[in-house]
Formats: sequence, C-alpha cells, structure tokens
Amino acid sequence: MNILVTGGAGFIGSHVVRLLVNKYPDNLIVNLDLLTYAGNLKNLADIEGKPNYRFVKADIADADAVGRIVREFEIDGIIHLAAESHVDRSIKDPLTFARTNVLGTLNLLQAARSWWESRPEGYESKLFYHISTDEVYGALEMTDPDGVEAPFSTRASSGKAHMAFGREFFTEETRYDPHSPYSASKASSDHFVRSYHDTYGMPVIITNCSNNYGPYQFPEKLIPLFVNNIRHGKPLPVYGRGENVRDWLYVEDHARAIDLIFHRGKPGSTYNIGGFNEWKNIDLVRALVRVTDRLLGNPEGHSDGLITFVTDRPGHDCRYAIDSRKLQRELGWEPSLQFEEGLEKTVRWYLDNGEWLDSVTSGDYLKYYDEMYSGR
Ligand code: NAD
Ligand code: TYD
Repeated sequence: MNILVTGGAGFIGSHVVRLLVNKYPDNLIVNLDLLTYAGNLKNLADIEGKPNYRFVKADIADADAVGRIVREFEIDGIIHLAAESHVDRSIKDPLTFARTNVLGTLNLLQAARSWWESRPEGYESKLFYHISTDEVYGALEMTDPDGVEAPFSTRASSGKAHMAFGREFFTEETRYDPHSPYSASKASSDHFVRSYHDTYGMPVIITNCSNNYGPYQFPEKLIPLFVNNIRHGKPLPVYGRGENVRDWLYVEDHARAIDLIFHRGKPGSTYNIGGFNEWKNIDLVRALVRVTDRLLGNPEGHSDGLITFVTDRPGHDCRYAIDSRKLQRELGWEPSLQFEEGLEKTVRWYLDNGEWLDSVTSGDYLKYYDEMYSGR
C-alpha cells in the first residue's frame, strides 16, 4: 500500500509516521506537510533515511499540488492530520483555520476522488481516514465538581471505573456543537468528509479524539508550555479558575488507535478515542509542577508560586469527556498508560530534550528543512 499521511511533521503526525514506517516496511509512507510553525522535521530524524519513507513539502490548501502528489505516489490510503490545531490561535486568526482545515480537507477529498475514480478498481481497498477532535461536540456540563465514578472502566485505570466530573459523555451520536473557530473548522471538515461518503461512495473513517499529551508537542499547548516555563522560572498562566476539565490521552496510544482503525475500522464509521482520564486543569497543573520539580531536583513546592490565574479564554469549553467504548468493543483498543506514568514519562522527555524545546521556541528548527533537503 502507498499511504499518504498529512501533517506528519507535527505532534501526533510524527508519532503516526514513525509507527507506520517502522511497522510496515513493505508500505510506502509519504509525509505531506507544509512545515508551518508547528511542523518540525527534527521530530522524524530517526526514520529519515528509511527506504519506505518520503517527505514532500506542500500546502493542502493548494489543490494542484495535492492532486499531483496523490497521483505521483499512486496513493491508496490517506491519513489526514494536517491542520491548524491551537484554539488560542484560532481566536486571533480564524481565516487561516478555515483555509487549512476546511479548504485543505476539501482539496484532499477532491484529489482522492479524482484519482480513485480514475482507477479500474475504483474505491476498492481505498480509504480516506480523517483525524478529528472531540471539541466538535462542544462542551459538557460539570455536574459533579468533586468527581464521581464513571460507569465504565479500562485496563489503564487498573480495571476500576475512572473518575468523572459529570454523568454525560461524548459518544459517536452526540450532536455537533462547536464553539471556537478551531472546533468550527474541524466540524466543517468532518461534514465534508461524510458528504464524500454519502454522495460519491468514498470509503471514509472519522475519529474524534480527546486531548493528547507526550513528546514533540509544540510548547504553546498546556503541558509542554508549562514544563518549559518551569525550566525558565516563568509564570504558568492558568485560564480562569482552572476548573475546566479535559480528558487526556498519551499520544502513542492515539497513534496505536489510528493504525488499528486504518487497517481494521469499518469504512463509513466514526470512532471516539479518549483516555478515560478526566482532569481539572488546576489539578493537572499542580501534578505537573510536582513531577517537574522532583525531576529537576528542586525541593517540593519550589515552583508552586509560578501558578498564576489569568483572564479566561473566550468561549472556553467547560468539560470534555469521551466515551470510547465503541472502539474498545469493536476493535479491542484501550489506553495502555496510566496518567501518572504517562505524565512522568512526558515531563522526563521534555527535560531530557531541552535542546528540542530551545530550538522550537527560538525558531531554529525552521532552518532544518533547508539544511537537510536543499538540493535533494
Ligand atoms: P500540530 O499543530 O502539532 O501539527 C499540525 C501539522 O500540520 C504540522 O506539521 C503543520 O506543519 C501541518 N500543517 C499545517 N497547515 C498545513 C497546510 N496548510 N498544509 C500542509 N500541512 C500543514 O497538530 P497535532 O496536535 O499533531 O494535531 C494533528 C491532528 O489531530 C489535527 O487535525 C488536530 O485537529 C487533531 N487532534 C489533535 C488533538 C491534540 O490534542 N493535539 C486531539 C484530537 C485531534
Ligand atoms: P490546550 O493545550 O490549548 O488544549 P485545548 O484547548 O485544545 O483543550 O489547553 C488545555 C486546557 O488548558 C484548556 O482548558 C485551556 C487550558 N490552558 C490554560 O489554562 N493555560 C494555557 O496557557 C493554555 C495553553 C491552556
């Protein structure tokens, strides 16, 4: 199979590309990425020379380029991750989100449709897999501020029910109700993907995943931003009162789910992917500060004073919580890591890779493509 991964130089995409390149030596993995501020080829330095890997720098909003690449590499399957992904940026610059997330997705759908419909086998053994977010479902209420047992359990929580801050969860049937320009653009792209299934018969799958954490996440998102700020003794800006709840999943567990769903998921389906792991922001930040101080050899409480409550994000969704039992039931997927273990592993990675953090915050990494790829 020739598989096109878009956004493979970003946070989640780099984990997906690494997994596929190493696991399927007989498949060609083509990584299409524009290398925006969020794309960093250093994330993939370890697999760069592999014979089944190609990198192509292109903009998904450029219909001609996307059409050419899909034909040139005779693409059979697409795993589409390229996107503008940060809510705060979408509040400042919504149009870029519409261009990349909506128009870019539509260009890819068109390119795939045109190429696959020109083949004698048509859509047989083809798949357009679109990676989306739980944020399209809007916000859940926090009905149980002290936490209650959720009505389902996972291996990752040692077979026990996990703690939830409300009785409702996002399921695959939850109505879309996006609030930020980011989630509105992702919702729009999801609708276009479904429309290509219903109108043209294209085999598509959509997954909606909760907040990811782990190595190689750009330090504008909560966890890497705060670890980096603790390294430099800078304030940790917690929005509002830190009461908002997010459901956190270790990025390699997401990549494993994507591989499984790409190969065994049912075309035409949607799957929710979540960590069964709800945290109030302030509790997460306190845990993060504790782990980071310990790993830095600081005395307990050393960085507590950096926690600063700042003006809330406009339209800040109260609670996200995913019910991913469909994926558990149909394909046997579950998160593998308990959060405490995943958080320690993540913080350790950022502290051991201070050079990576410095290079992405200084902008140095943007030169890497020119140094590595010029003349190729
Ligand atoms: P990211 O911002 O780290 O990476 C995005 C990648 O897309 C970057 O490599 C960037 O260069 C590339 N890109 C951006 N615009 C492009 C364009 N016009 N053409 C080609 N490439 C372009 O994002 P991420 O956190 O890895 O998220 C990947 C996908 O997963 C996104 O679609 C996002 O909506 C979805 N998602 C993310 C999370 C999360 O917690 N991070 C959770 C659920 C779903
Ligand atoms: P983020 O990592 O931006 O992911 P998302 O907005 O997609 O959930 O933020 C996670 C949570 O942390 C979210 O509720 C907003 C909050 N947050 C802060 O309190 N301060 C910050 O500086 C950032 C970046 C996020």
